[in-house]
Amino acid sequence: MSFQKPHIALAGATGNLDLVILDTLLSAGYTVTALTRHTSPSISKLPSHPNLTAHPVDFTSVTSLTTALLSTSTKASVVISALATLPIGAQNPLIDACGAAGLNPLARDLPVCAPKAATQRYLAQKCAENPECGFSWTGIANGLFLDWSATLYNGSDVQCNVTLLMDVARAVLGVIENLDSEDIRNRVVYVDSAVVSQRRLIGYVQEMDDGGPDVEGAMLGFCIVGSWDPEYGCDFLGRLDNELLGMKEMSEKGLKGFIS
Ligand SMILES: NC(=O)c1ccc[n+]([C@@H]2O[C@H](COP(=O)([O-])OP(=O)(O)OC[C@H]3O[C@@H](n4cnc5c(N)ncnc54)[C@H](OP(=O)(O)O)[C@@H]3O)[C@@H](O)[C@H]2O)c1
Repeated sequence: MSFQKPHIALAGATGNLDLVILDTLLSAGYTVTALTRHTSPSISKLPSHPNLTAHPVDFTSVTSLTTALLSTSTKASVVISALATLPIGAQNPLIDACGAAGLNPLARDLPVCAPKAATQRYLAQKCAENPECGFSWTGIANGLFLDWSATLYNGSDVQCNVTLLMDVARAVLGVIENLDSEDIRNRVVYVDSAVVSQRRLIGYVQEMDDGGPDVEGAMLGFCIVGSWDPEYGCDFLGRLDNELLGMKEMSEKGLKGFIS
């Protein structure tokens, strides 16, 4: 049986990450409803595309969100959330709306970044409360965005998984294409584009013809401490789901080329 593309609702569609995910979904032929705040200052960032509609919502209102999920011409059956850092711990109304709209057995909540522990606990609770409704979720843990950078921390040889924004988008596609697989259901999947150490990244920068940008000046203040601390699980060794989602890590040459 051929794969039926589900209709996607994308929360945070005007954001740095979601614009890449949106582009990937539209290019792959999906129909997308962008859930944007009534007050969004960024609506003009959405591309004009026949398969894209914008639906203003109040992310604090289950009613507003449920209406949006149910009222699209092709009812959304997958919800992807890459909301900004500020509201990421306040996604319960979105989760409740997924449950309320979840008459379709494909309905799922799909937080792209690993949500805060409380959000994951809430998702698990919702699934446990409604075992028959078909509601399930998958989180995608991608380590640091490789497209951005990192501050020096905890020595420079700690291994850390990093992912290109476009590979996060590929992981989203991989999850959507495996919606019926138990392998991705109700858990966080781990993906990456490469495993790096700060020493290796900085080495590539310093090999550039012009010596590259000043490392401290370019990188200082960007990354959170936990991203470079093995105590916080920055190394996904033994947990990666790349193969399951049809993804491949970059070669050494590809990584070096990307950095420089
Ligand atoms: N792993 C990493 O290295 C890394 C790095 C940076 C960020 N992240 C995570 O990735 C996720 C997406 O990051 P991003 O940079 O793509 O997000 P972003 O661009 O800052 O925001 C995404 C969208 O969230 C929506 N939004 C909803 N409520 C909001 C509020 N109260 N304030 C501001 N925006 C709000 C906005 O869309 P509308 O205006 O259309 O409503 C906004 O465009 C975040 O959870 C962030 O924590 C990960």
